[in-house]
Amino acid sequence: MLLAASNRRTVLAITAACVLVLFILGRHQTAYGTEGFDERGRSWKHRLCNVLMPDSSKVQDIQAESVKHSRVAIASTFGFHHDVYLALAWTMERVMKEIGGRLQVYAPTPLNYAFQNIVDDLRLYSGEIKHQDDLLKDVTRNNGDGGIDMIVLGTCEFDLKGEWHTQLLAAWDARDSAHKFQIVCIVHHVLDKGWQGHITEWARRDAIRLLPISAHVAKEFRTSFNELADSFDPTIRTAGYEHIPIDVHVPVLDIPRLPERSTERILSKAVIQGSFNQDRRDYANLFQDLSSSLAKDPSAWGYLPLGDGTAYSVNTTSKAPFHLFLIGSGHIEVPSELKDVVSVHVGLDYNQFYEMMGEMDICIPAFAENGYYEHQASSTFAMAVECEVPILVTKRMRESYTYADDDRVVVTRPAAMREIAAIKALRSKNAVEFLDSDASHTGHPVSENSHISYLVDEMLSRGWTRTKSEYRSYKEDLWKDNEVVVQRLLRDL
Ligand SMILES: *[C@@H]1O[C@H](CO)[C@@H](O)[C@H](O)[C@H]1NC(C)=O
Repeated sequence: MLLAASNRRTVLAITAACVLVLFILGRHQTAYGTEGFDERGRSWKHRLCNVLMPDSSKVQDIQAESVKHSRVAIASTFGFHHDVYLALAWTMERVMKEIGGRLQVYAPTPLNYAFQNIVDDLRLYSGEIKHQDDLLKDVTRNNGDGGIDMIVLGTCEFDLKGEWHTQLLAAWDARDSAHKFQIVCIVHHVLDKGWQGHITEWARRDAIRLLPISAHVAKEFRTSFNELADSFDPTIRTAGYEHIPIDVHVPVLDIPRLPERSTERILSKAVIQGSFNQDRRDYANLFQDLSSSLAKDPSAWGYLPLGDGTAYSVNTTSKAPFHLFLIGSGHIEVPSELKDVVSVHVGLDYNQFYEMMGEMDICIPAFAENGYYEHQASSTFAMAVECEVPILVTKRMRESYTYADDDRVVVTRPAAMREIAAIKALRSKNAVEFLDSDASHTGHPVSENSHISYLVDEMLSRGWTRTKSEYRSYKEDLWKDNEVVVQRLLRDL
């Protein structure tokens, strides 16, 4: 739809204003909604500003819209990601308290890893979780007023792959046009294409939207949908892929009883969290870096020299010996000389996990390849943020995980300085060794590059600890952004 020239000027002015406000506020969470203008009587102003900036100042606009979906089901057949979709249930209940609506969760129960304790403790969902087989019965029981009008699927890569796709599509088609429901897909991996063919039928019915947990995944889906929208195949092209809305809901919980710790302490507990997949996380090089750093200067890490021994052992008089925790699932081999420096923790339930995470000083994402920057969202960022563990990041990571692009929750190293070198510098408050180093043996130490030395200085002067109040204000902003996203879902924006 074309806009009148005067409207175009207004759009430009609003775009400029949105971008300016975005810039001034330094807010980064973005909704990759359908750009362009209203084909269905929705206000283009909402569309435009919300796409650019789902900020609390827009709540006013959003509130002017009526609620379109008030009977919501969150459902999954998958035994994982409870922390993702029940975080959404938590946001949804907060929003529904304000604007009305009712929520029912369907999942395989009991929830794995004792997540029900977390649901109860943190009051994520006040209702009874029903068995996933009840979803279809409940959806088809009432095809008119008061029937379920929105179904959020916890992991669409699994949930929209099997029978649910066919059954839900039949249920959708059986309803009259005034009582259709919307599918909301929580998605995790752009390259997991097994289920994606099903999107076409839902897009054709204008009945699907996506809800990934991080902006880079949203952006990749947007790109992929825009390509499909241009498809030579008319059955794909006419489905309307470019109009599928995509928003981001970040699953960060309000973990209680996190320890209060001194900001003066020495950095001694680092964690790499996630499944022990060597292709995705760079354990091997990290171990190697740690071994060589220990060999060079064991006392900087609180260890005794290796000597004739086979493994480094703690210098018991040292104040804060370093320890690396690997928390996750699967199997991983730790080099023998590091057996007292690195420990592996598997099979924790959620309570044990949050308790151990809460003790950590810094979280190392250790991404080994591009996937976690581009197609797939690592949950490490959300886990570390909710447990108030600063994340050791690069600029590139901040640009992918935009919700963590915030100095209140991350410590930024230059990419030139690998994790172990950064941690050593942060422990000793001294980066001379790194700055003087000359890996290329060309007589040009790292410090000659002023960008690198500037970032190293910044990192050291800001330090690696973050206060409780920094985390509190950060999380409150994030939860507010999540609420705006849920408002968009319920108001069908
Ligand atoms: C052990 O640590 C103490 C205190 O930091 C230090 O004085 C001592 O030299 C260390 N011992 C060895 C053998 O490195």
